[in-house]
Amino acid sequence: MTLRINLLTLLVCCMNLFAFSTLHAQQQSFFPGKVWNDTDGNPINAHGGGILYHEGTYYWYGEYKKGETVLPEWATWECYRTEVTGVSCYSSKDLLNWKFEGIVLPAVENDPSHDLHPSKVVERPKVIYNARTGKFVMWMHIDSADYTKACAGVAISDSPTGVFHYIHSFRPNNGMSRDQTVFVDDDGKAYHFSSSEENATLHICLLSDDYLTPTQQFTRNFIEKSREAPAVFKHDGKYYLISSGCSGWDPNQAEIAVADSVLGEWKVIGNPCTGLNADKTFYAQSTYVVQVAGKENAFIAMFDKWNKTDLKDSRYIWLPIIIKENSISIPWHESWDMDVFKD
Ligand code: DGJ
Repeated sequence: MTLRINLLTLLVCCMNLFAFSTLHAQQQSFFPGKVWNDTDGNPINAHGGGILYHEGTYYWYGEYKKGETVLPEWATWECYRTEVTGVSCYSSKDLLNWKFEGIVLPAVENDPSHDLHPSKVVERPKVIYNARTGKFVMWMHIDSADYTKACAGVAISDSPTGVFHYIHSFRPNNGMSRDQTVFVDDDGKAYHFSSSEENATLHICLLSDDYLTPTQQFTRNFIEKSREAPAVFKHDGKYYLISSGCSGWDPNQAEIAVADSVLGEWKVIGNPCTGLNADKTFYAQSTYVVQVAGKENAFIAMFDKWNKTDLKDSRYIWLPIIIKENSISIPWHESWDMDVFKD
C-alpha cells in the first residue's frame, strides 16, 4: 500500500516536472516559417512588424490578425483582409523568446468612420523612441478597405507597452503612403519610408524633431520601380534598404540597395537572398531589419510569409544577414542560432 502511494507520488512529481519544463522551455534557435509560439504557448501574432530596442529589452509590434480572412464582394483584385483588431506588442531579452504584452493600439469598434475601425486597414506598424520628448511614437499604414485612402497614421505612448493614443492620419507632403517603415539614425534624426505615387515610387521623408510629423524635406526614390515593404539598416556608415516588388500578398524577388545618405541616392545591389526559393524571397516579404544589441555586425532580416487566404496563419521568416567585405547576403536556413554571428 505504502509502496503504491509512493510510486503514485513519484509519478505525479515527474509529470509536474515535465509540464513545468515544457512550459518554461527556452527557445534556442530560429525556425523560419514554422509556427513560433510566445512564452504562453500561443502563436506569435505580430505581422508586418518592427522591433524597438529600449533599455535592454526588444519590443516586437505588429498587426494582430484574428478571425476569418475574406475577399470582399466588391474586390477587383486580391485584397484579402481580416478585420482590424489592433497592434500587438511582445517583449524579449534574446529575440527568441517573446512574452505577449497585449494589444497596445486597439481597434475602435464603435465609430465606423475611425481609422482604427475593424472595417479599415492598419498595416506595418513601427515604433521609435524619441529621447528628447521621452515618448514612444508609432507610425503605421492606414487605409480604407479598398486601399484608396493611402495614408500614414501616428500614435503616441509614454511606455513601450502602451497604451498608444492614436493622433491622426494624413498623406505626408500630400503624397500617397502605403507600405512604410521608420528609421532613426545615429544622430537622432528619424525618417519615414513609404510606397507612394500608387506604389510606383518610394518616398523618404525627414521627420520633425518630435517624430510626430513629416518635414517638407523628402526625396523620391526607385522612381516607377514599384518597390514596397521597406526595411532599413545602417552598417559601417552606409545605409541599406531591403524591399519587395509589388504583387499584393504574393511573393516576388527581394532587392537590396545601398546609399551614403538616408535620403539617397540609393543604388541597387541586387537580390540578397540565396538558397532555396531565393528568387521568391523564400515565399515571404520583408518587413524590418533588427540589429542584435551589443554586436557590431549582427543584423536579422524579418520577413512575413503571408497566407493570403488565412492571414492570421501567416508565419515569420527571420534570417541572419551575412555581411562580408564585398558582399551582403541573406542565406536560407531551416534553423539557425545566434552562433552564426560569431565569426
Ligand atoms: C503588400 C503589402 O506589402 C502588404 O503590407 C499588404 O498591403 C498587401 N500588399 C495587401 O495586398
